[in-house]
Amino acid sequence: MEWTQEARYRTYESMTTEERLKLENSVSASIWRQRYHIQPMYGLLNDPNGFVWFNGSYHLFYQWFPFGAVHGMKHWFHTESSDLVEWENKGVALKPEYSFESHGIYSGSGIVHNNSLYLFYTGNKRDEEWNRHSSQCLAIMNKSGKITKREIPIIKSQPNGYTEHFRDPKVWQVEDNFYMVVGAQRENLTGCVLLYQSHDLIDWSLLGEMGMKEMDFGYMWECPDYFTLQNHGILLCSPQGLQPEGDSYHNIYHSGVWVGKPLTNNHFDHGDFQELDAGFDFYAPQTTVSPDGRRLLVGWMGLPEIEYPTDSEGWAHCLTIPRELFIKDNILYQQPVNELKEKRKKAARAAMNVSNEVRDLGELSGDCFEMIAEVEVGSANRAGLRLRVGKGEETILYVNTETQKVVLDRTNAGVAFAQDYGSIRQKHYSKNKIRFHIFMDTTSIEVFVNDGEMVFTSRLFPKMESQGIQFFAEKGTAKIDAVQWKYD
Ligand code: FRU
Repeated sequence: MEWTQEARYRTYESMTTEERLKLENSVSASIWRQRYHIQPMYGLLNDPNGFVWFNGSYHLFYQWFPFGAVHGMKHWFHTESSDLVEWENKGVALKPEYSFESHGIYSGSGIVHNNSLYLFYTGNKRDEEWNRHSSQCLAIMNKSGKITKREIPIIKSQPNGYTEHFRDPKVWQVEDNFYMVVGAQRENLTGCVLLYQSHDLIDWSLLGEMGMKEMDFGYMWECPDYFTLQNHGILLCSPQGLQPEGDSYHNIYHSGVWVGKPLTNNHFDHGDFQELDAGFDFYAPQTTVSPDGRRLLVGWMGLPEIEYPTDSEGWAHCLTIPRELFIKDNILYQQPVNELKEKRKKAARAAMNVSNEVRDLGELSGDCFEMIAEVEVGSANRAGLRLRVGKGEETILYVNTETQKVVLDRTNAGVAFAQDYGSIRQKHYSKNKIRFHIFMDTTSIEVFVNDGEMVFTSRLFPKMESQGIQFFAEKGTAKIDAVQWKYD
């Protein structure tokens, strides 16, 4: 299939039955489909959007291009859940209709007001010369699910001093005021966040740039999200254009947070940027608040401009599992949401000591499970788990006591991709005890280390039959105590 501009900029209604059947057949023959992550029926999924609790359930939308695994005309696809575990596909929520959004409904957020769900998004337009025009727009969903769009943008264009890279509105409320952050690019081609204010969610005025230390940190800041957590101010963001630095920033693009003091008069007093994920495939996360006050996060388990093995099947990507955020010692921690425990049925256990050897981890195996493994490294210089083990395939998760790193190695995980960016990710770790909380799905792994102080999120494409789990120690001893719940 050749992706001409005509082929990429079509709306979903124009899909013929023949096209749909072709995509459906291709997807149903795929061996890579996930079993408990949100994924597109076909086509390409990217950022989570409009994540919110409204009218008795969670609503989570995502960027969707229906026709194949490329970035083209973006729609918002709507999913809904009462428990963050089972998600129901509700169909397309927002599609391009007006001239100001003629080339896509880009990312944004949701907020509940007056018994309705206000959805803020970026209208993406290209003119005849293919110049980009971005505006911030609003659609309102009522309790019956009916969505009405404002016929004109609420913010028509970027302010003076900024380029057309102006997108991804995230809105929150403080008492009677509403605030919005928008990702932006200064005319000197550095990224930043713009701050707006409103009393009614319709009329918005510019407060200015969020005052921060970073004046030259990447060329465009996508998907900003500001919130307070345990009396800290947090800015979550996906700045594009960071260069590798030590063990950080080895993917094409990165997401992270600044933890600081709550915003005062547009000024954000903050510490250093913390990369949010130590794995290979994580971008553009968004947060919301649960009815019981937890700060929840969902990310896109994928990256722009990278080819994935499912592309040839006409679909790509999925979202991460929902995670709960908290702060400890000024570091942002992530934990899988408690609700996921509902998926636990029968537990299997294995405990063993190994000395300079590799052993199957008892009865534990599989490609769709949750597992908690407590590893204590004795005299070994490397010890940990080999997952999705099969002929010539393994994904290795281990502690290296010599280099003092925790490592995820997907060099031989299965079908290789994104190889220009390397196949090993690691992070400093100096203790000899570690807890790996692993969520494995057909083609992904999410590892929460200890109580969530670091997370490795990655896609993996092993053969279906690569289901072994092994424990190993090199040049010495280590012990493990593991419990696993296979998901059906
Ligand atoms: C991030 C992003 C956003 C944009 C959307 C378009 O992945 O580039 O900045 O709104 O994707 O799909």
